[in-house]
Amino acid sequence: MRVCSIVGARPQFVKAAVVSRKLRDVGEEVLVHTGQHYDEEMSDVFFEELDIPEPDYNLGVQSDTHGRQTAKMIAALEPVLEEVSPDALLLYGDTNSTLAGAIVGAKRDVAVAHVEAGLRSDDREMPEEINRIMTDHASELCFAPSEAAVRNLAQEGISEGVYWTGDVMYDALLEARERSQEASTILENLGLENGEFVLATVHRQRNTDVRENLESIVSALADAPLPVVFPAHPRTVERLREYGLWERTTDALEVIEPQGYLDFVRLLDAAERIATDSGGVQKEAFFLETRCITLRSETEWVETVDAGWNRLVGSDADRIRDALATDWDPDSHPRPYGDGLASRRIVTLLRREIDGEVEVEDV
Ligand code: UD1
Ligand code: UDP
Repeated sequence: MRVCSIVGARPQFVKAAVVSRKLRDVGEEVLVHTGQHYDEEMSDVFFEELDIPEPDYNLGVQSDTHGRQTAKMIAALEPVLEEVSPDALLLYGDTNSTLAGAIVGAKRDVAVAHVEAGLRSDDREMPEEINRIMTDHASELCFAPSEAAVRNLAQEGISEGVYWTGDVMYDALLEARERSQEASTILENLGLENGEFVLATVHRQRNTDVRENLESIVSALADAPLPVVFPAHPRTVERLREYGLWERTTDALEVIEPQGYLDFVRLLDAAERIATDSGGVQKEAFFLETRCITLRSETEWVETVDAGWNRLVGSDADRIRDALATDWDPDSHPRPYGDGLASRRIVTLLRREIDGEVEVEDV
């Protein structure tokens, strides 16, 4: 089988790394990087650390408005699919790169397979929510990370081609945790003690592009009882400067460059708690049993909240301050995202769909 995988943004490199390895054991993969993320620390570092093969195509699209960025990807992807003629198109998550792949795949009648299908925040103002819905509806195979995701798809009338696989980010984290403990020197480099700091990340449009929201988050983080280390996404750095908030960063609220995956996992593992608006980071915190304060009012990863590891506080400064200062003890640790074998299941299902001769016992 020949599968064309499309990636473009940081979380997609993490997800694709584990699947790509399994895929190449049994078939051919043609890897396309849309170029949505292009800075060394947003892209290259993940390919190096996670041993992801050099992309066969880099579309070099880079940043633009949502419409123009997606349109450029669509225009550049179509001739690639024409040339490669894959049996399936493999898409990850909910970025504009995902949506562009879904549209081109559906129009060219290539089987579209979506990893992380069925997630919903029920907030249509999030660009990612639109990307998720449209991608799922254009997909022939929906690989759902949780039971809730399967139910969400059923509610929208999608039941054929839906498989619960578990979450590939869990597979990735299981592989990376030990490596990060052995290889990363980030704690020493930053002078941080295990369990004695807060990790923060912010990049969601609603938090970066609405001035008062970013202001409120920064002011609450600056009041945290422990030092805060803040690996900032480039868009967040731009806004901190534009809004005159850069001056609010201090030794106690230290903004650093985006980190490679191993250093970031080390920080997540060692942090006393984390404040984030990232989707992937909420989950990784849960896997590592680090308490999470989510700077949003909803989440797709509802199981992390139900289990008591994640608190949704939005961007309200008082709620963030309170969540940073209050202790809480989650008392359960369910495993709603599988057993670390999601990538294996996904590849087996693709083989069954394309080659038709593989038994799938446990999906
Ligand atoms: C994108 C995804 C989001 C995902 C995030 C992961 C969409 C709609 N959003 O958001 O779902 O959570 O990636 O990190 O696809 N920039 C750089 N260098 C880079 C990349 C971006 O400077 O390498 C800056 C540019 O100013 C750009 C801005 O960041 O305009 C936003 O980048 P973009 O890829 O459009 O969206 P993200 O916020 O990264
Ligand atoms: N990540 C990283 N370095 C950082 C911040 C995040 O390696 O400085 C990783 C993180 O461990 C997770 C992924 O990037 O695997 C999440 O990406 P992001 O938060 O940008 O996107 P989202 O998950 O919200 O789509």
